[in-house]
Amino acid sequence: MKAKTPLFGKLLDLLMQSKAWRSLFRHGFSETNRNRSLMVFSNFFLHIHPVKVRLRAIAFRRTYYLGGLSGVTAFVLTVTGLFLMFYYRPAVPQAYYDMKDLQFVVSAGVFIRNLHRWAAHAMVALVFVHMVRVFFAGAYRPPREFNWVIGVLLFVVTLLLSYTGYLLPWDQLAYWAVTVGTNMADATPFVGAQIKFLMLGGNTLGENALIRFYVIHCILLPAVLYLLVAVHIWRIRKDGGIHLPKSESKQPEVTVRITEKKPAAEKVTEDE
Ligand code: HEM
Repeated sequence: MKAKTPLFGKLLDLLMQSKAWRSLFRHGFSETNRNRSLMVFSNFFLHIHPVKVRLRAIAFRRTYYLGGLSGVTAFVLTVTGLFLMFYYRPAVPQAYYDMKDLQFVVSAGVFIRNLHRWAAHAMVALVFVHMVRVFFAGAYRPPREFNWVIGVLLFVVTLLLSYTGYLLPWDQLAYWAVTVGTNMADATPFVGAQIKFLMLGGNTLGENALIRFYVIHCILLPAVLYLLVAVHIWRIRKDGGIHLPKSESKQPEVTVRITEKKPAAEKVTEDE
């Protein structure tokens, strides 16, 4: 890599030859396809990305970035949810007063709470529109049928996260919305009463239900969501990247080509 000024170049060299740098980035900067692949494979953060993508697959109008945006909302929800947890106690009547404190007493509390609420609405809408986009692109067909199933599970988990979060403010809206929801579960043939009992942790909506919804909302469902998202993203790679219509995938590949520069002179490290 060419440095701009001699001093900067020396400092950069020093940094790049340090043990710490070499332990993180093992393959230098030489611009060969092989070296670029090694850089991506050997770095935990970079390995999320494929080594090569087709330009058509990253065009905005191919996916409208809806999957990525769903992921961004999930991340925003995790961070804001974590902040909310510092102030919220899942107990009756504290839960309601904590929400009021977040709104009127805690610095930036109302901002964090509203960000969490709006991101939740946005996530439900984005995941749904992403699903519709995938459907109309025909991307649910083999070899992506397994990823479609993972996607359906992600949609269900997203809705469950929304539903369980709804009870937590412990206000009138929350109380009656969950009363309606659990009565709907009660209407299930044969096992309805048992499901309702399991959801509420008793026969009436009270503190038992609140703690159940809290644990499911803050621990169980986010864990399942992140696991499924990891499989989802891994699966996209294994299925050959984003689905491209047959007519287009027959066209010659237009990935950015990097000219091989002196591959023989490339530095080879021990683990290769
Ligand atoms: C938390 C929810 C979700 C996240 C974070 C997510 C993330 C992503 C991302 C980043 C992509 C690649 C880019 C794109 O297509 O936008 C993708 C593709 C895909 N997603 Fe999702 N997704 C989610 C939910 C769903 C749902 C609900 C379905 C369907 C039921 C689904 C099915 C698929 C399929 C089949 C692909 C491959 C599309 C193609 O090859 O064109 N995903 N997802």
